[in-house]
Amino acid sequence: MSDHEVHAYGLRICKNSHPSMRRLKKEYGTPSIHGNKFWKSTFLLMDYLQEFPLEKGVRVLEVGCGYGLGGIFCSKTFDASLTSLDADDTVFPYLVHHAELNEVPVETWKCRYERVRKQDLAEFDIVIGADICFWDSMSLALFNLARRAGQAGVQRVIFTDPGRPPFREMAERAMERFDAEYTDWHVAHPHNTSGLVLDIAF
Ligand SMILES: C[S@@+](CC[C@H](N)C(=O)[O-])C[C@H]1O[C@@H](n2cnc3c(N)ncnc32)[C@H](O)[C@@H]1O
Repeated sequence: MSDHEVHAYGLRICKNSHPSMRRLKKEYGTPSIHGNKFWKSTFLLMDYLQEFPLEKGVRVLEVGCGYGLGGIFCSKTFDASLTSLDADDTVFPYLVHHAELNEVPVETWKCRYERVRKQDLAEFDIVIGADICFWDSMSLALFNLARRAGQAGVQRVIFTDPGRPPFREMAERAMERFDAEYTDWHVAHPHNTSGLVLDIAF
């Protein structure tokens, strides 16, 4: 393994110091809504899904995908078909690079998650997202996305977060309204991450 690459949960993940990532930065620029690196809440998601797996072949939508490793994990591990959504299309070259590196197909979709409609959500079984609830306005937007997902026939919505207040607010509202598990989660050495998982079942 090179110093510029991490191997975790069966995936290859490039650090921003990797020559390929430097090349992408030069060619496409830097993502602007914090999608400029791999965030460790995605390790929470992978670790949680190892313990509570998805069915094989499910249709996954990752929202706020950034480099997209959460969805790529689902594709690689559960043979899921994958659509990766982000408001900032500058993330997509980094996502596609990781999908190619890990040999999985991916569809990209530039959209804000608050604009995803019920008829769009009806195309998916599972919605996932890691570290996507960091501004106050995102709390209600993500709660509403989960509500629309349930109405559209999505089976599970799974979000992870390091524990930011807007996420906690969203998760508490979801606990009152839906059949949901809201859990502290820890990822052991060498990835060393702690945070929260919200797993809503419809
Ligand atoms: C902190 S990064 C997390 C990226 C990735 N999930 C990870 O864990 O590495 C947040 C991501 O959410 C995206 N984002 C922010 N607001 C969004 C919105 N309203 N709709 C869709 N994506 C959004 C950003 O562009 C960014 O890629």
